[in-house]
Amino acid sequence: MNQAEKPPVGEVEGKAERVQQMFAAISGRYDLLNRVLSLGVDQSWRREAAHAALARAPRRVLDVATGTADFALGLKHLSPQSEVIGCDFVPQMLEIGRHKARQQHLDIALEQEDALNLSYPNSSFQALTCAFGFRNFADYARGLEEFYRVLSPGGRVVILEFPPPRADALGQLYRLYFEQVLPKIGGLVSGNAAAYSYLPESVAAFPPPEQLKTLMETAGFRTRYRLLSFGIAALHVGVKT
Ligand SMILES: C[S@@+](CC[C@H](N)C(=O)[O-])C[C@H]1O[C@@H](n2cnc3c(N)ncnc32)[C@H](O)[C@@H]1O
Repeated sequence: MNQAEKPPVGEVEGKAERVQQMFAAISGRYDLLNRVLSLGVDQSWRREAAHAALARAPRRVLDVATGTADFALGLKHLSPQSEVIGCDFVPQMLEIGRHKARQQHLDIALEQEDALNLSYPNSSFQALTCAFGFRNFADYARGLEEFYRVLSPGGRVVILEFPPPRADALGQLYRLYFEQVLPKIGGLVSGNAAAYSYLPESVAAFPPPEQLKTLMETAGFRTRYRLLSFGIAALHVGVKT
């Protein structure tokens, strides 16, 4: 994938196919790069998000845009009694997830689905999670509409995302790492420089936490959020009213 083929950012038509091609291309190196580029901090964000999702002991949990299933496996590990389903629209990512599930002896289902057009019936899950996938959707309101539809009343949605870097000195330092250093390391390790310049560009174009909160409220959720690691990540929790 060259720079011209990388996905467009924000909510635009034609984004989905390019996002699929990009994740298919980097699937083999995705896990390694996640750990290296976040310096391992993503594990603590995921733990916190998983606890938020499992707070009410859900019977069925859907992890949307599950990728290589790290988050779905973490949910199953913490809550063995819950039925955990992960879904994603890139088969190569799901295949790596299935391999990890077998290795870890964890029984989760991994299914190919488009988050904007889920095949699950209304009210089929008590919790729904989405870690670092939402930003890649071509239509945020449509994604939230689907999340709301498949959750049962009182069900919880948990979205973990990278908000745009803050304007203060710390934010500038982070921006330097995110925009200058990360794409170079990501490009070298994955052999796909375009994918790792898409990452900071898509984060810069993503709605700030207050705006995402409003979008979630518009979809019908009662919602709150918390900034993690000085605002590098944001954890949004919504309840279907
Ligand atoms: C950055 S990865 C995150 C994967 C995983 N949740 C994690 O925490 O490592 C984003 C994932 O979102 C998936 N994705 C993006 N848009 C999607 C959509 N419309 N439907 C299903 N999956 C989607 C991509 O295929 C990719 O696997």
